[in-house]
Amino acid sequence: MRDIHNILILTGAGISAESGVATFRGPGGLWEGHRVEDVCTPEALERDRAQVHRFYDARREQLAAVEPNAAHRALARLDAEWAGDLLLVTQNVDDLHERAGSKRLLHMHGELKSALCARCEARQPWEAALPPGHICPACGASALRPDIVFFGEMPYRMDVIEQALAKADLFVSIGTSGAVYPAAGFVQTARYHGAATLELNLDPSEGSLWFAESRMGPAGTLVPAWVDELLG
Ligand code: APR
Repeated sequence: MRDIHNILILTGAGISAESGVATFRGPGGLWEGHRVEDVCTPEALERDRAQVHRFYDARREQLAAVEPNAAHRALARLDAEWAGDLLLVTQNVDDLHERAGSKRLLHMHGELKSALCARCEARQPWEAALPPGHICPACGASALRPDIVFFGEMPYRMDVIEQALAKADLFVSIGTSGAVYPAAGFVQTARYHGAATLELNLDPSEGSLWFAESRMGPAGTLVPAWVDELLG
């Protein structure tokens, strides 16, 4: 196996589960209580803007009540100490990786603490509730929406992600079910480019067969152990 210099890490809702943030699928998951079609599609925003805003307002408000866990902190330590390239691509829209201290971080599905103008695509940090039709300070249109990538929309920064996948020596997937593309396909791209692949997850994911190694267990236990192993 080639030496490890460049690492690409993908995280999903499972890394935030031990912080008390609901995952999407599985017992008590967000998609059990809501229909994706009602809160996470462009059509839903057109059909019932207020319901979509309420769904993300509630999740944004909850962020004040949760803290990063040992897995987030271990990845922040790795970010600070790893001398090679490292990119943490998260599917999560919470701010727990930032609050733990991760810097080389990219939110491919957007962020709860950001508002996007549907007209001019300007973004601004957003902490409180986001009323439907709020005026965009950049262009004046009544078009601010949650800065969340809905189903059917293109995830952010795919060019940066593809470049990082092409040069990764190690691809690690943490806390994701492998149910949603393009993220679910990253392991195959990494393998194609010769990267070693490792999955850290509570249960086998839909993509487990693509990983050279899978470790099953809670992220709060597996991730610190893996980071210790990597940093020696
Ligand atoms: N530690 C590690 N893994 C865990 C833990 C834990 N404590 N708890 C749950 N998991 C795992 C589950 O086994 C599951 O495989 O995390 C995964 C969560 O899967 P999902 O709920 O499907 O979340 P995710 O994979 O992030 O969803 C991907 O789908 O709904 C869209 O845009 C949304 O970004 C999201 C995307």
